[in-house]
Amino acid sequence: MKILAIETSCDETAIAILECEGDEKSAQFRVLGNALLSQIELHREYGGVFPALAKREHAKNLVPVLEAALEEAELLHEDTQAIPEESRSSIAGLLSREPDLAEAFFEFVGECEVPAIDAIAVTAGPGLEPALWVGINFARALALLWNKPLVAVNHMEGHIMAALAKSTDEELIIKDVPMPVLALLISGGHTELVLMKEWLSYKLIGQTLDDAVGEAFDKVARMLGLPYPGGPEISKLAEIVRSERFDLNASSQGRTLEFRTFEGELPRPMLTEATCDFSFSGLKTAVLYLLKKYPELNAREKQHLAHEFENAVTEVLWKKTARALEETGAQTLVIGGGVSANTHIRRAFTHSVTAQYPHVALRIPSPALSTDNAVMIALAGFYRASRKEFVTDIKANGNLSLA
Ligand code: KG4
Ligand code: ZN
Repeated sequence: MKILAIETSCDETAIAILECEGDEKSAQFRVLGNALLSQIELHREYGGVFPALAKREHAKNLVPVLEAALEEAELLHEDTQAIPEESRSSIAGLLSREPDLAEAFFEFVGECEVPAIDAIAVTAGPGLEPALWVGINFARALALLWNKPLVAVNHMEGHIMAALAKSTDEELIIKDVPMPVLALLISGGHTELVLMKEWLSYKLIGQTLDDAVGEAFDKVARMLGLPYPGGPEISKLAEIVRSERFDLNASSQGRTLEFRTFEGELPRPMLTEATCDFSFSGLKTAVLYLLKKYPELNAREKQHLAHEFENAVTEVLWKKTARALEETGAQTLVIGGGVSANTHIRRAFTHSVTAQYPHVALRIPSPALSTDNAVMIALAGFYRASRKEFVTDIKANGNLSLA
């Protein structure tokens, strides 16, 4: 089954085309086309994602991204047949709020041969609703023009499937997944522990009571004067300290440091509570207080503060995940969402699972599949399409939940 998937929930406009084979027990995927346009540079000046801008950019980018994906998949062929008047007016209705997108749609898509795909998957939520709507209406317009079935995908299910997929040079493979699966989903909008007892059936085990972990990374980065998105920036600074640590231990023992290291100075929120819930707003505030107390941090001190922040986050994420592993008896652990791209979190989880839960299979997405993309939407779309969960009407739901 060939699936074309569309992702516009946040600040990436992405379309992928995958050849999917197999079933829930064992599935193989070949990425035929994968195109992505990131808006990060544009949002940087606002210090975060600006919804109205995201929506406008998706509308501008969808047709070029589609063209690139179809071309890569060798599915782009010209067609001179005119669009039947009835379809044309329905599509114009669907895209009426985006006149520029409608124009580009008729100009490009209207002149393409119907590609040999079997279904169209699109992110229905969670995410920014105005951004989601653009992708959904575009998907509906394509489905109507090409007469293909539509699947609505939960973005977080996409992150889970991306983590479960093992990549070889040629394929992505999802098989031999011991159930139940515990998923730690960490992104700009989410921090939750979800249990998948059997395929596609979820139970919420814990979640953040305030900020998402990615949001905390982004806000602390902003306080340190680092650009958006802050996660990778904090990680870069913290990694400098981690690599120096070896040198310090080896060569400069006994020397006193001339700068603050903030070691152990930040709180590890909620660790003593007997739940799997998280809280990150106190941690963020604690960073703010430290910055007020020491307003003149030098570059090294900023690196150390980033390092201490990353340590605090990682410790909380791991301890809560370990508690959830105990409580649920999960056999597989996956980490998904943009923050799962974090080098230290990946390393710490790999180390801790091996040392403390050797019977648990840890699955972490490849760095390219950690942050938002359309391949993950196609993966989840395949599972939904295999169950024939086709829809005719999709509504954007910014708060769509798995459980
Ligand atoms: O899943 P994602 O791409 O978009 C959402 O659905 O939110 O996640 C984006 C979040 C941002 O907060 C970003 O700062 C964070 O993931 N992020 C990271 C790293 N790369 C991205 N956080 C920590 N370390 C990273 N290397
Ligand atoms: Zn995401």
